[in-house]
Amino acid sequence: MRGLDSEFPMPGKTIVVGISGGSGGVYAQRLLGLLEADTRVARVHLVVSSGGLRILRDELGLACRDTAQLPEALLGRAAQKIESIPIGNIGAAIASGSYPTDGMVIIPCSMGTLGAIASGVTDNLMRRAADVHLKEGRLLLLCWRDTPLNTIHLENALRVARAGAINFPISPGYYFGADKLDDLVTQFCCRVLARLGLPQEEQFEWKGTKG
Ligand SMILES: Cc1cc2nc3c(=O)[nH]c(=O)nc-3n(C[C@H](O)[C@H](O)[C@H](O)COP(=O)(O)O)c2cc1C
Repeated sequence: MRGLDSEFPMPGKTIVVGISGGSGGVYAQRLLGLLEADTRVARVHLVVSSGGLRILRDELGLACRDTAQLPEALLGRAAQKIESIPIGNIGAAIASGSYPTDGMVIIPCSMGTLGAIASGVTDNLMRRAADVHLKEGRLLLLCWRDTPLNTIHLENALRVARAGAINFPISPGYYFGADKLDDLVTQFCCRVLARLGLPQEEQFEWKGTKG
């Protein structure tokens, strides 16, 4: 079957998105909106931790008992590409390296989830899928957020980097003249998508200044 897959690859990218309990639910919301609108993307597998659900409720006012409703709640309209998978479903396709994906991003990534990935702890679907991306040598972007950082956070960030993950802290740039939070969020998400091989038209490109 894999032979057939490589001869006739399914068109469009498959991206895995995790939302854990770090602050910054608006970044997950914007990233999913951009992925849903991107014609190069065929499907998005979404996994949200209970901490992530709490953040979405506290920061965005989204109250979803059933995770299946989450994509629509986040987008504000029916989602065509995003499928939300319960975090306890460790038998989902993305739990196996035999299921092809084009990369995974956890946004926001709590320091707890960062620590679990750094330790190889795979006790839920998000952590297992992250572990799979590392073992298969695929893109794994961890958009963690906290401040200040203790030495455990720093060591965990180094460990995941050594294992092949990309530390992509939620730390937007201020050099492109954004005058509202919305622009900072969009530009940060554009950088994430560019790293996933999905450069966006609205991404700001620095042209340099005269010295
Ligand atoms: C309002 C709120 C904000 C939080 N912000 C952060 C944060 O920015 N970074 C972080 O690592 N944890 C943060 N936490 C704590 C995590 O949500 C918590 O440690 C959780 O257990 C992480 O589990 P998870 O990674 O499985 O979602 C926050 C919690 C709440 C309720």
